[in-house]
Amino acid sequence: MGILNLTKEHNITLLEGDGIGPEISKSVIKIIEAANVKINWEKCLAGNNAFLKYGEVLPDETLQSIKKNKIVLKAPITTPIGEGFSSVNVQLRRYFDLFANVRPSKNLPNIKTPFDNVDLVIIRENTEDIYAGIENQIDENTIHGIKLITKKGSERICDYAFQYAIKNNRKEVAVVTKANISKLADGLFLKCFRNIAKKYPEIKTREILVDNLCMQLVMKPSQFDVLVMPNLYGDIVSDLCAGLIGGLGVAYSANIGKYQNDNFAIFEAVHGSAPDIAGKNLANPTGLLRSAIEMLKYINENSAAEKIEKALFEVFKEGKILTPDLGGSHTTEEFTNEIIKKVKSL
Ligand code: NAI
Repeated sequence: MGILNLTKEHNITLLEGDGIGPEISKSVIKIIEAANVKINWEKCLAGNNAFLKYGEVLPDETLQSIKKNKIVLKAPITTPIGEGFSSVNVQLRRYFDLFANVRPSKNLPNIKTPFDNVDLVIIRENTEDIYAGIENQIDENTIHGIKLITKKGSERICDYAFQYAIKNNRKEVAVVTKANISKLADGLFLKCFRNIAKKYPEIKTREILVDNLCMQLVMKPSQFDVLVMPNLYGDIVSDLCAGLIGGLGVAYSANIGKYQNDNFAIFEAVHGSAPDIAGKNLANPTGLLRSAIEMLKYINENSAAEKIEKALFEVFKEGKILTPDLGGSHTTEEFTNEIIKKVKSL
């Protein structure tokens, strides 16, 4: 009788993106391979490269692959400049109703920032608020921009925040609003949060106004754990938090949604396609790698996720082999190989 092979093979759609996308994707794939996770990557086109081949930025072939695999690792994509193109990010968000934008912020060793104990996660509602795009011209000099907040949208994002907290061993979820001023819209979000919180008595809760939050974040960010908030506050505060850990180059994210009753997740770095350094072996793959670590946790490959994170942290701690954007003088390939060496030694 043969030995039973319990290693699960995962099917994941890979969007290698444009600019530095293919280089940093290659690096991440090699590191995941070194951690012995079996992934069948289905490479698909999206963005500029798809536009050149198919005349559209999100071809049907790519959509079909995502529908089948339900999990995507996405490198940055150049948005072609021209009339009538909505970005791939916006199209994917709408198509798969990616209602939760998850933006963890955790310090890396040796990256100089004002604080060295940041470890928080922003859960941003991704579909409503002013991003619903409802604006009316009342008269020549007056515009009404509608802030759309619904019970359904608020409840599902608050519920997701609590579920995330439980799955990731977090202790507290804080809700962020401006409910003292936006009494109806933010008031509804807050009410939904309070209702949903009753389902999760094991998680501590906190309520904070967004202006106070911003001040607290730049004075004592270590006091925060998981934060859930409507779209606009989430957009602004998550970039503030990226700044707390060293900027967009090391920040990462996940977009979670539901399409025809199935869960969908797209993991991506926060930075763009960096055309100025594309093809030069200088790109820093950290943002995409940290997104991939979140992806590994999502598919329950926790020990590989921990191993890769530890290896990455060690490379930063030693500070000897880093890419130029981090103050180093090494190539993408050298940085990647150093992480692989550490992964294999753990
Ligand atoms: P960018 O983030 O691509 O570049 C800004 C600066 O940061 C550049 O100097 C670049 O060299 C540097 N940089 C960015 N990522 C880096 C990395 N991993 N390693 C080393 N250096 C890095 O922003 P930019 O130039 O405004 O946008 C370029 C393209 O990317 C545009 O077409 C834009 O639409 C697209 N974009 C795509 C995003 C996505 O797919 N999620 C997000 C943001 C922009």
